[in-house]
Amino acid sequence: MTNYDELKKHLEKLIDPGYNLPLKKTEGLKKLSVGPTGVVNVEIALKDISTESQKEFKLVVTKLVKLELGFPGIKISFVKNPFVEEGAKKIIYIGIASGKGGVGKSTVTANLAYALSRLGKKVGIVDADVYGASIADIYEVPDAKPTGASEEHMYPPVSRGIEIISTAFFIDKETPIMWRGPMLGSLLNHFFTGVKWHEKTDYILIDLPPGTGDTALDVQKYAPQTKMIIITTPHVNAASVALKAGLGAEKIGHKVIGVIENMSYYLNPVNQQKDYIFGKGGGKTVSEKLKVELLAEIPINQPKSGFLYEKDEYNGKIYEELAKKIIGLIE
Ligand SMILES: Nc1ncnc2c1ncn2[C@@H]1O[C@H](COP(=O)(O)OP(=O)(O)OP(=O)(O)O)[C@@H](O)[C@H]1O
Ligand SMILES: [Mg+2]
Repeated sequence: MTNYDELKKHLEKLIDPGYNLPLKKTEGLKKLSVGPTGVVNVEIALKDISTESQKEFKLVVTKLVKLELGFPGIKISFVKNPFVEEGAKKIIYIGIASGKGGVGKSTVTANLAYALSRLGKKVGIVDADVYGASIADIYEVPDAKPTGASEEHMYPPVSRGIEIISTAFFIDKETPIMWRGPMLGSLLNHFFTGVKWHEKTDYILIDLPPGTGDTALDVQKYAPQTKMIIITTPHVNAASVALKAGLGAEKIGHKVIGVIENMSYYLNPVNQQKDYIFGKGGGKTVSEKLKVELLAEIPINQPKSGFLYEKDEYNGKIYEELAKKIIGLIE
């Protein structure tokens, strides 16, 4: 049997697979004691404490302590290690919220992600809308599925270089609406802890369900630094509900970084006049009341093909300006 110091040294050399660094470096060896009968008691902090990774690590530690070092027994417990590698990338989460449905959250999420990615950023999208998940449709991968060993180790499908994880991949289309809300909490847990995003990921955009409520709270729990962008249309009704969503987000501690007005006007192709079909001023009102910038006014316009605006299209250019503004605000 080895002595305490040697045991400690051996344990500290074990690699935390989540960080790919030894426990010494990650300060992952939290508690270590050897009982009077030689039973080792150890608490280890790992980056990934999913059941599967705990099981794997337990096997490694047990083999080392009992077989190699000759201790008669071992008790292991795990805690999460919040250690962040030096120089490691911190993913920035941006939630896209609105009060009302149908104002263009998903359209904006998808196109903003696309514009950010055209500017060289590595982007992922979480479609957290359990009631009307549409990101996978917009990116034309409706039947894609994440790959990986389990819900705790998922690799998201990719379309146009953008990684996508969606409630649609997990909730059957036939599932009644009333069951969907309660399912979301545990799904979000997996989305935030189990998805293996590309290591260079800069931004993850979250398409939230309409309204405020539980989802925003869940997001707050898993990604407390999430920045919020509020979407509204120019119409006064949409604006007053959007304002509520914004105030709600602030109340639970999210930082609202700006407002986007969607469907602001129709650009008449004949005379290039702006027709304000849905009224005027909704975005301005909401941004003033929330004391944040009105980041963009996006006109009514169909993409030339598919659901995403390309770089050279009128709306594509607006999205690119918007993306630049957001990068400027955040970085
Ligand atoms: N600027 C725009 N110009 C033209 N059509 C748009 C625009 N923005 C959104 N749309 C269309 O309006 C509809 C609703 O948009 P979208 O699905 O993005 O809204 P949403 O807020 O995500 O809705 P839901 O609450 O149902 O999730 C879609 O058919 C979309 O293609
Ligand atoms: Mg939507």
